[in-house]
Amino acid sequence: MAEVVIVGSAEDAGQVAADAIEHLVRANPRAVLGLATGSTPLTTWRALAARGLDLSQVRGFALDEYVGLPAGHPESYRSVITREVVEPLGLTPELVRVPADSGPIETAGADYEAAIEAAGGVDLQILGIGRTGHIGFNEPGSSFASLTRVKTLTEQTRIDNARFFDSPEDVPRHCVTQGLGTILRARHLVLLAFGAAKAAALAGAVEGPLTASLPGSAIQLHPRVTVIVDEAAASELQHADYYRYAWEHRLPWERL
Ligand code: GLP
Repeated sequence: MAEVVIVGSAEDAGQVAADAIEHLVRANPRAVLGLATGSTPLTTWRALAARGLDLSQVRGFALDEYVGLPAGHPESYRSVITREVVEPLGLTPELVRVPADSGPIETAGADYEAAIEAAGGVDLQILGIGRTGHIGFNEPGSSFASLTRVKTLTEQTRIDNARFFDSPEDVPRHCVTQGLGTILRARHLVLLAFGAAKAAALAGAVEGPLTASLPGSAIQLHPRVTVIVDEAAASELQHADYYRYAWEHRLPWERL
């Protein structure tokens, strides 16, 4: 099962996630990181940037990208990843890929899968979760075996993401996203969630039945998952007391 770490704030969560990334990169400066956009990972990037590590050899693969935004649009995930991750962390831009960043859209999925494989796979994948229970942009109904492909966004996700655009109508209807099968191939999944609005999706992902209706539940199939949440996001977890107990009594050699 997932290691669930319940912390006091999003800032504390960022430190825990940054610890895991720092440990990985110190062991392997060319590690492959799975990068997520959205507001959730921001405290992780901030915590990591403050540590002043040399991340110039780290390779990165973003989870997803909108389809149809003009090149250079500030809300394209390429722009977001550049602004929020590549620049502050000192990653090398050429070593960071975003789905559909080269070649025709028809083969973008297969091309991306091949690129991830050529890099040796993702070592640590950072994940947020959407209110529909999506991870990446794998909306309800996504196959647990799915690979990188074009998807249609739900209206709920478009509404949730409208805050980043001038008008809700500007939010694209399509995206290219790593599949649940792609995400499950990463060697370590670190899922973060903050706030009461995520509590139901988070509880479904961690404790609910395995179901494509809640794509985040796919994490239950993975042998190494760390879920880092604040109290509000943890509020619907049935076994929260056990998670706290297990974290408090973790053995000295156990690391995330
Ligand atoms: C988007 C992204 C997801 C992200 C989710 C949650 O839809 N494609 O990768 O996890 O939103 O976003 P936030 O972290 O802003 O709540």
